[in-house]
Amino acid sequence: MFPMNAWYVAGWDHEIGRQLTPRKVCGIPIVVYRKVDGSAAALEDACWHRLLPLSIGTLSGDDVVCGYHGLVFAPDGRCVQMPSQETLNPSACVRSFPAVERHRFVWVWMGDPLEADDALIPDLFQNDSVEWAGDGGTTHLQCDYRLLIDNLMDLTHETFVHHSSIGNRAVAEAPFTVSRTEKTVEVTRWMVNIDPPPFFRKHLGKQGPVDRWQHITFHAPSAVTIDVGVAPTGTGAPEGDRSQGITGFVIHVSTPETETSCVYYWAIVRNYKLTSQRLTTEWREAVRSIFAEDKAILEAQQAAVSRYPDREFYPLNIDGGAILARRYIDQMVERERGGRAAKSPVIPIVSVGTHSKG
Ligand code: FES
Ligand SMILES: [Fe+2]
Repeated sequence: MFPMNAWYVAGWDHEIGRQLTPRKVCGIPIVVYRKVDGSAAALEDACWHRLLPLSIGTLSGDDVVCGYHGLVFAPDGRCVQMPSQETLNPSACVRSFPAVERHRFVWVWMGDPLEADDALIPDLFQNDSVEWAGDGGTTHLQCDYRLLIDNLMDLTHETFVHHSSIGNRAVAEAPFTVSRTEKTVEVTRWMVNIDPPPFFRKHLGKQGPVDRWQHITFHAPSAVTIDVGVAPTGTGAPEGDRSQGITGFVIHVSTPETETSCVYYWAIVRNYKLTSQRLTTEWREAVRSIFAEDKAILEAQQAAVSRYPDREFYPLNIDGGAILARRYIDQMVERERGGRAAKSPVIPIVSVGTHSKG
């Protein structure tokens, strides 16, 4: 159902510690923790013996002790101790998953461990760079993670869903461009000489019209970053001079739990007034309430998708970025299946004029 040869976020850096933390990633229950040296480890959350979730056991050094009969599993999944017997059954092990901490997140690799290359983790350096400041949060969504990707790749919804904060008519009316690289899909929209929406009016702190930008990048399969900002019209932002404006960088990473649920890790950082905790809190909380508006929409959409399993989505121009992003995801799944077409867990997007399923 999901690309398994991919890195997914299992938690924020501060959430994963010297305790056994249960998570579900791509339908697989895992237990995540930190070893004594501080590095992260992840095991399947089911004991080899009688399947008790290991997350209700205990940590002993780097090892996990099952809470039922005390089998002990090392971070590589091997059972290293059994009660009342000296000889260990050689098949006694649980799956272990490569785990890496980067950009304030702990990432796990759910597929073939031999393919786990940490160079494939999306570059979200802004999330822990000294040149950026900000913070984020976590939102559970009862929807297919791809509905969130669709949502982020088309920001015209800001006009209708977020009109009290970051939306106005300009977002829905301005033209945009869609492009792609080998690993990304990019959507760029410039709104020149517009009235700023309320959030940006407040934080720019200047009167008059602005030039506003949104540069969206999809990093397959589950991360979307958005470079956003405004600058007073005529100060050169479209030509590359943002010095009179304000820039934010919004990070969105979604981790599929099931076909119809995901965990949405998000953050917003900025590259000015880096020491202002007040600004960090104000931006984070503004974004939290904006994303709560998306949650309501996405969960209502998922309920409808589940209610009408045979209906299709109809593509508009605004869906160009989302269609390409989904194509990348489908291609990853197909590659893992040896080229066989992936069966989509939700209604596929179809192209105008080729109105067929599949
Ligand atoms: S179920 Fe884990 S030791 Fe028996
Ligand atoms: Fe939104």
